[in-house]
Amino acid sequence: MIKKGIILAGGLGSRMSPITKSVNKQLLPIYDKPLIFYPLSILMLAGIRDILIIVNKGQVEQFRKVLKNGENFGIKIQYKEQKNPNGLPEAFIIGEKFINNNNVALILGDNFFYAQSLTKSLQKANKLKNGAKVFLHPVKNPKLYGIATIKDKKITDLKEKPTKTKSNLAVTGLYFFDKKVVSLSKTLRPSKRKELEIIDLLNKYRKKNKLSAEFLGRGGAWLDAGSIDDYYDTTSFVSAVE
Ligand code: G1P
Repeated sequence: MIKKGIILAGGLGSRMSPITKSVNKQLLPIYDKPLIFYPLSILMLAGIRDILIIVNKGQVEQFRKVLKNGENFGIKIQYKEQKNPNGLPEAFIIGEKFINNNNVALILGDNFFYAQSLTKSLQKANKLKNGAKVFLHPVKNPKLYGIATIKDKKITDLKEKPTKTKSNLAVTGLYFFDKKVVSLSKTLRPSKRKELEIIDLLNKYRKKNKLSAEFLGRGGAWLDAGSIDDYYDTTSFVSAVE
């Protein structure tokens, strides 16, 4: 069982400026709770109780005020800063000590998941021993996401924001990795957008036949509350469900 999880709650929130100029996006409300409560609850549903939250430079206190050390939720929360937005896999380099040679899950602080059988698939994913596991979900605009091509239930191709693709299966911001993730992340080089790319990291696992996929399934919803429209879609989705 994976015991450790990282929430990457960095990012400049530039698509939601000026709202995000003084407050981190992940602390804005989705209906009646701060956005970060949702990815946090996903890790908890997976059975993870030891959590590292990575935030922007100078924002630890904002988050600590809301979540403290996690005791209220029966979990343990630590915080670290990501000094510059150098990409998702940097979370494993920043979190090396926290990970301490264990398997680890990563979730993006602005990702919202909803599915009927979610607890079951999370618990299944959390049994991962070797390799990496991603959660896939169909999207309308594949150009905005990491996209996986599937053949016979296997991922045959992974591309970050492809301009041309026949697949509409997005790689959502929830990942389960074995302990090799730290050393593999250190071998990555920045992409054209000058970031370490999670898709490059996942491709390293895929090429060794060590990457598997789960699906949110029918009736499942995945929202990346990155833009103002997605943010309001997420809020109305949650208020309707509640
Ligand atoms: C990142 C990842 C992408 C993934 C997305 C999910 O995109 O690079 O593969 O599909 O998160 O939210 P970014 O937010 O950096 O554009």
